[in-house]
Amino acid sequence: EKGGYDYFMLKEIAEQPRAVADTLLGRIGADGRLTLDEMRISDQELREVDKIIIVACGTSYHAGLIAKYAIEHWAGLPCEVELASEFRYRDAILSPTTLVIAISQSGETMDALMAVRHAREQKAKLLGICNVNGSTLPRECDGVLYTHAGPEIAVASTKAFLTQLVAVYLIALYIAQVRGTKWGDEVFAMVQLLERMPEKVEKVLETMEPVRELARSLAGERCVLFLGRHVGFPVALEGALKLKELAYMHAEGFAAGELKHGPIALIESGLPVVVIVPPRARAVLHDKIVSNIQEIRARGARTLVIAEEGDTSVEPYADTLIGVPAVPTLLQPLVTTVPLQVFACELATAKGHDVDQPRNLAKSVTVE
Ligand code: M6R
Repeated sequence: EKGGYDYFMLKEIAEQPRAVADTLLGRIGADGRLTLDEMRISDQELREVDKIIIVACGTSYHAGLIAKYAIEHWAGLPCEVELASEFRYRDAILSPTTLVIAISQSGETMDALMAVRHAREQKAKLLGICNVNGSTLPRECDGVLYTHAGPEIAVASTKAFLTQLVAVYLIALYIAQVRGTKWGDEVFAMVQLLERMPEKVEKVLETMEPVRELARSLAGERCVLFLGRHVGFPVALEGALKLKELAYMHAEGFAAGELKHGPIALIESGLPVVVIVPPRARAVLHDKIVSNIQEIRARGARTLVIAEEGDTSVEPYADTLIGVPAVPTLLQPLVTTVPLQVFACELATAKGHDVDQPRNLAKSVTVE
């Protein structure tokens, strides 16, 4: 049942190209236009939406943080992202023209369900992104977009996360299509590019040996930091969460721009720091992070740099450099997250941990 792998997690990491492809299947028409059948929220209702609030927990929350960038850019709507467990306890302003999107792999996470019920009381429209057919979340929402990752057995979410990203891109692009925002041509181009993502994820999987090697060498470390900017910031948070869950190590993700506001004080000789570098095409973001890498390197950090293939500007500052295929910035999390999953899995295995069943954790958290 593990398909020849030692752990479900390894199998699920390897299944990601297929999971991404399956989540796109049947949603892109021959003319490149999107159809999201199970949406059950009409195009007219979508045109009336004036604000989006995303609620989720853990890894699904990180998918939500990335969704915000995609929705604000392509759909042109203001978007807030909130931890589902916090959402009910503030006085969020909701109305019938607010679309609340709840993201949950299992569809049974109590915090997410309670957030949805709270939003329903305030008459918001509800859309679920969910991986489990027939689970509770889709029943409690007006519409649903299923991710087609297939059953995810390992406690640490991997393939579900990548398919959640595909789902949020589809939603952002669909809203753009329905509302006719200024990004018409870009929406079309992005849909074409999304179809090429499975092969790009496959390519990343083929080049993971240096990541595994580095991970094994870090098994004795106490702490690893992760830095990213823009959509690379949630990716950094996700990399840190994977490492906490699996390797029981102190790990933290930071927005690279925040370094100088505090975290740089943590940098000392030999500290492993993972940095996610935005595409070179986003010169402003890219160059800023390159100077962040220089700063931490000057203070003795040991750097694992994840950057676009052929990005030579980072070479002098990378102890280990992992090249990922060039893709537009907003889609980059699909390729930059994979090395972080492999990193956490390998490091935890090197420490002798069961990566499928980390201590103290359950696959779906059905209590508040
Ligand atoms: O089933 P859900 O997506 O609602 O689960 C949310 C979190 O409990 C989940 O993502 C958790 O953080 C994972 N163990 C992360 O790997």
